[in-house]
Amino acid sequence: MKKVTNKFSHPLMSDNITKDDISNLISFIKKTNRFTNGPEVKKFETKWSNWLGVKYSVFVNSGSSANLLSLAALRIEKGLGEIIVPPLNWSSNIFSIIHNGFKPKFVDINLNTLGLDEEKIEKAITKKTKAIFLTHILGLNALTPRIIKLIKKYKIDLIEDCCESHGAKFDNKKIGTFGNQSNFSFYYAHHMSTIEGGMICTNNFNTYENLRMLRSHGMVREASSLKVRNKYLKKYKDLNKDFIFSYPSYNVRSTELNANLGISQLKRLTNNNLKRSKNFNLFLKNLDKNKFFVNFNTSGSVNYGLIILLNKKFANFKSRQRLENILKSNKIEFRRGMSGGGNQLRQPYIKKIVPDFKKNSYESIEFVHKFGYYIGNYPSIKKEKIMQICKLLNCI
Ligand SMILES: Cc1ncc(COP(=O)(O)O)c(C=O)c1O
Repeated sequence: MKKVTNKFSHPLMSDNITKDDISNLISFIKKTNRFTNGPEVKKFETKWSNWLGVKYSVFVNSGSSANLLSLAALRIEKGLGEIIVPPLNWSSNIFSIIHNGFKPKFVDINLNTLGLDEEKIEKAITKKTKAIFLTHILGLNALTPRIIKLIKKYKIDLIEDCCESHGAKFDNKKIGTFGNQSNFSFYYAHHMSTIEGGMICTNNFNTYENLRMLRSHGMVREASSLKVRNKYLKKYKDLNKDFIFSYPSYNVRSTELNANLGISQLKRLTNNNLKRSKNFNLFLKNLDKNKFFVNFNTSGSVNYGLIILLNKKFANFKSRQRLENILKSNKIEFRRGMSGGGNQLRQPYIKKIVPDFKKNSYESIEFVHKFGYYIGNYPSIKKEKIMQICKLLNCI
């Protein structure tokens, strides 16, 4: 007897690196004699800055490295203190705070944006607050006019993590242009990919110079301006000018090959984003509102994942199990807890820093932790497939 197999499947990411990307890369490899950080990286940084609408960008080997350097630059420029951060986050955002000696101050999220709850931020601001490190989750914009006002009122920095939200907009302007610094990831599963990679963006020249040095062992010769380099040369006359190390730093450089991929991918990003937004809106429209929460603020959003959140009235561990059974039996790859697996306050690494978090102060993140998911959303998914997925989900 013939075995009947379920052919349906839906991976988290597909077609993110095309044949064209690969042939561009092969031609590049054949003609270049430099492979590490060089002119192709600079070219990618310039193109990325132009695409985003910022003055400076620094290409690094991952979004996590972007997180790490942006907090290191903040420490150099503003000194140590507290950082306001959402618990729905990628782990490296919190690690970058801890590794740089800052104290994370967690504020619950808002279910409509999945970002920081603007109502709760002001209470968390103290004299020690140095920055709000906000994360735009799964393509949704997390900025609000009130958050912008708070930053100005208390004269604190804004760092935007846009690792999941390339091209999303707030107030008709791309996110990543509002903060003093913004971070992007080009990991394989994101809006565009350099296989591994990340970018830190800023309009502040001093920050740019610090980031360039921090990326490359703290070497002063990495600063782009003669003025910055001369400042050190004059002060440290006893040192070889090629080996002056400004700050305790890292080597988180990327390569010319990854930059070449980035340049090739960037050409498609805006068009792909339009397709992704269309997919997400179609998905939300066709989900059963009695079973799923769909009231996300999708204005300006660009989602590389289709977000699934059970409706509060319907959410319990039985309905969650039914949902997971349907996802698994139809080979729909999923991530429970959304970004970073949900509530970072529940993770082992944070236990010594925040030993006992009060669950009733974190109701929304706790809900997402238990009943939130995402599945893949890539440009090539056909409308029929989205409808099919909705039909399957609506059966739970
Ligand atoms: C919000 C967020 N920040 C940072 C990162 C880290 O990026 P990477 O995987 O490139 O290190 C990720 C990773 O997916 C992320 O989702």
